[in-house]
Amino acid sequence: MQSSELKKKYLEFFNNKQHAIIPSSSLMPENDPTVLFTTAGMHPLVPYLLGQKHPSGKKLVNFQKCLRTDDIEEVGDSTHLTFFEMLGNWSLGDYFKKEAIEWSYEFLTKHLKLDPKRLHVSCFKGDKDAPKDTESAKIWQGLGIPKERVYFFGKKENWWPSPKQETTGPCGPDTEMYYDTLKKKCGKDCMPGCNCGKYVEIWNNVFMQYNKTKDGKYTGLKQKNVDTGMGLERTTMVLQNKSSVFETDLFQDMVKKIENLSSKKDTRAVRIIADHLRAATFILAERISPSNVEHGYILRRLIRRAIRYGHLIGIKDKFAKQISDIVIRKYKNDYNDLERNREFILNEFELEEERFEKTLINGLRIIQEEIPKIKNKIISKELAFNLFTTYGFPLEMINEVARENKLKVDEMGFKELFAKHQEISRKGAEQKFRGGLADHSEEVVRMHTATHLLHQALRDILGKHVRQMGSNITRERLRFDFSHPKAMTKEEIKKVEDLVNKKIKENLKVERSELKYNDAIKQGALAFFKEKYPDVVSVYKIGDYSMELCGGPHVKNTKEIGKFKIIKEETISAGVRRIKAVVN
Ligand code: ALA
Repeated sequence: MQSSELKKKYLEFFNNKQHAIIPSSSLMPENDPTVLFTTAGMHPLVPYLLGQKHPSGKKLVNFQKCLRTDDIEEVGDSTHLTFFEMLGNWSLGDYFKKEAIEWSYEFLTKHLKLDPKRLHVSCFKGDKDAPKDTESAKIWQGLGIPKERVYFFGKKENWWPSPKQETTGPCGPDTEMYYDTLKKKCGKDCMPGCNCGKYVEIWNNVFMQYNKTKDGKYTGLKQKNVDTGMGLERTTMVLQNKSSVFETDLFQDMVKKIENLSSKKDTRAVRIIADHLRAATFILAERISPSNVEHGYILRRLIRRAIRYGHLIGIKDKFAKQISDIVIRKYKNDYNDLERNREFILNEFELEEERFEKTLINGLRIIQEEIPKIKNKIISKELAFNLFTTYGFPLEMINEVARENKLKVDEMGFKELFAKHQEISRKGAEQKFRGGLADHSEEVVRMHTATHLLHQALRDILGKHVRQMGSNITRERLRFDFSHPKAMTKEEIKKVEDLVNKKIKENLKVERSELKYNDAIKQGALAFFKEKYPDVVSVYKIGDYSMELCGGPHVKNTKEIGKFKIIKEETISAGVRRIKAVVN
């Protein structure tokens, strides 16, 4: 079965069970300050998991593009990826364990025709925060999965989000489905959860009924939700009877091309290149450019790491563009921002490859000069950081060069310097790289409403060409990216600031409504420049001043915002400006 057919079947199956099909959201969480990228299908749904009414109903299904960088070191084995697609279905206070598990079983065995005898499942074993999930285990057994194939694990395996993400917000026990590839066990303790590749984790059903508070307590959620995620690549691998995701139709054209260009055989390197350039293509499609901060930095790491592996397997010429072109062709029907931004994507690859070639030569020379001077076998934080800022060497690459020379890197020291460089605390930085749930603190909510006012004020002062290109809010500041061809003048900045403050003082009411997408646009609602919207959308109006498609949350009245101040206006890429502002 082709991957496209799996996608189609999944949507159809749940659509037939009254789930509304919702579009894939942007890879850049618009209103979630705690993650750099969307790491699961549930991120865009956090307000609805917390109880807000979703315009498309209580049962939803979609496929969502996701990106996780915490497994980057593992990419190259048979199943780990940075970018991946997640098939998901949700119950927002509607059905719960019984239906979710029965439907999973029905879909896997009847529609995908997987062998029920090769299916293993795991459930939550219980701890001080939540009881053992015997209910899920019983449902599985009732469906015919014998006791020996039902395992119980702790929070690390069977709780979502995983405790290592240290997030707050909706969470709960989950039950995971594994498929036995029939490979030999790697040892006598080999069982689902083992990384050797025998058992492939294909689907996770999360029963979100808890809310983790800031002080680490688990309280009951207003509603019991189901959040599921099936890995498209892994399930395709199982269906196509392949031993790695890179052998499926999703990667084959890319892999063949990379192999043709290279002169040395190295499966791991080929996989890393394919994964990283696919991920980078999707990030570029959001019109992010490589840089040394945040999204741009992740993008830069992916591209540069891919190029370096290209060099290792003997690829002589620039090649990123050629691989990216294959990605665009493969995915353009499902994600129309790829084709729309084709020129931008290919051009950015070309530029970054040029920049990297130049700095690589200089950087490698510096490393070779410095290595003999190193006494304690540790590359100091200063040297590592200098390689990063001056020569654009991402940390992983410094690590790799270190390994090749039997050295270690002072990683903690590097991260400290890196965090300072990013103007955020180290804790904040780690949280972001790990990914997490939305922060709906008062500060964030106030700044969220201020962002809408800012968007409208920019359009009033600078002109209607201004469109939101990105937004990111932390408790400390809001950040807003928008299209505008040149730097704002001091006067323009002042005018925008004054206008926002004037609107705040007018004590405007903030109201949410649900409208048909077309009606909302006709009435002049601003929409974020993203793929597709569902038929019915959530719209926030601030008095008669601003109207925007948005999932919220917002303050009730602009008087809650406080005083608004722009602290920085700068460029981030051609034609895109960035404003940082605070409220207090
Ligand atoms: N949100 C769950 C996961 O990512 C389904 O595994």
